Amino acid sequence: MAIKKLSIAEVKIGMYVHSLDISWFQHPFLRNSFIISSEEDLAKLQKCGATYVYVDTERGLYNFETINQDYGRDLVSKWRLKGIDEGECAKLQDIVPRQEELKTSRKIYYQTRKILEDAYHRAARGKPINWNEIFKVADAAVESVFRNKDAFLSLGMIKNYDAYTFYHSLNVSCLCITVGRYLLFDKEDLIALGVGALLHDIGKVRIPAKIINKPGRLTEEEFSIIKKHPEYSQEILSRCPHIRWDSIHLAYQHHERFDGSGYPLGLKGFRINQFALIAAIADVFDAMTSDRPYRSAMSPAVAMARMLEQGERDFCFSYLLKFIQCLGIYPIGTVVELDSRQIGIVTEINHLNLERPIILA
Ligand SMILES: [Fe+2]
Repeated sequence: MAIKKLSIAEVKIGMYVHSLDISWFQHPFLRNSFIISSEEDLAKLQKCGATYVYVDTERGLYNFETINQDYGRDLVSKWRLKGIDEGECAKLQDIVPRQEELKTSRKIYYQTRKILEDAYHRAARGKPINWNEIFKVADAAVESVFRNKDAFLSLGMIKNYDAYTFYHSLNVSCLCITVGRYLLFDKEDLIALGVGALLHDIGKVRIPAKIINKPGRLTEEEFSIIKKHPEYSQEILSRCPHIRWDSIHLAYQHHERFDGSGYPLGLKGFRINQFALIAAIADVFDAMTSDRPYRSAMSPAVAMARMLEQGERDFCFSYLLKFIQCLGIYPIGTVVELDSRQIGIVTEINHLNLERPIILA
């Protein structure tokens, strides 16, 4: 749990209030913990007499800006974005409703977080990784997306500035597995995709922390050191006796770009591994929507717009469109300003019509 203390003036719609600095008897909310889901909630909060609010940054939005509905509409028309057709949707039937599956997927998410931390610590000390644990959690995550295709999506938006590496790897993995599910990959492929995505950056344990966490612009020399991490990830993953080559390729090639401008090999187009093409999109999207030492997070819709602009150069465009179809223009949890000027939070994606998510206003 990542709790931040904010002054009442800093609080925004979409944030998850963990507690207030006044007692339950003094404020008008039913519970001490709740999501600020409307302007009315925000106004009540600002008038209730609390000076500080403790916000759980992992459960609600922390720093995303409100997106105007026009912005999403322009994006849809400019890029002719389409939802999933009904035939495709029929192949992706859920067995369990998202809210119900979310309880299980949240447990898997945090269990994976622990296992990932252990894997990083072991790799940093040159000790063997507990591969069985990694495969077990990837398998559990895949079972979850087969029960409900979207349960992991909202978890894939969790941000934690202090433990960025772990949450970034987890999120990339959640996003990759979900996109893979929408691409109708089988379970074995999804597990291989999830394992590779979880450990794609593990080679960073061999890069000095002062370079990884440097707030300013990297020098050419520092950047050439950072660029070695896919190679180190490949080396570490190759030690697993039963890992699939696809997972290793994902880790080695996740910084390759579709036009050949990436690294380490400068591979072009479909010479880049299919899993690495998917991971590149999830990797860039999660990095853009996270606070970094050198810049603040972008909202998902703005990140998608930027990625579409870079689309044909950097990414496999058809995978990028599929990625946007899965997440929607307004991913779950996005704060949208509606045409009525009301503010609402997206609670479900409408896969058939990207412009019309299900909103709690
Ligand atoms: Fe990376």
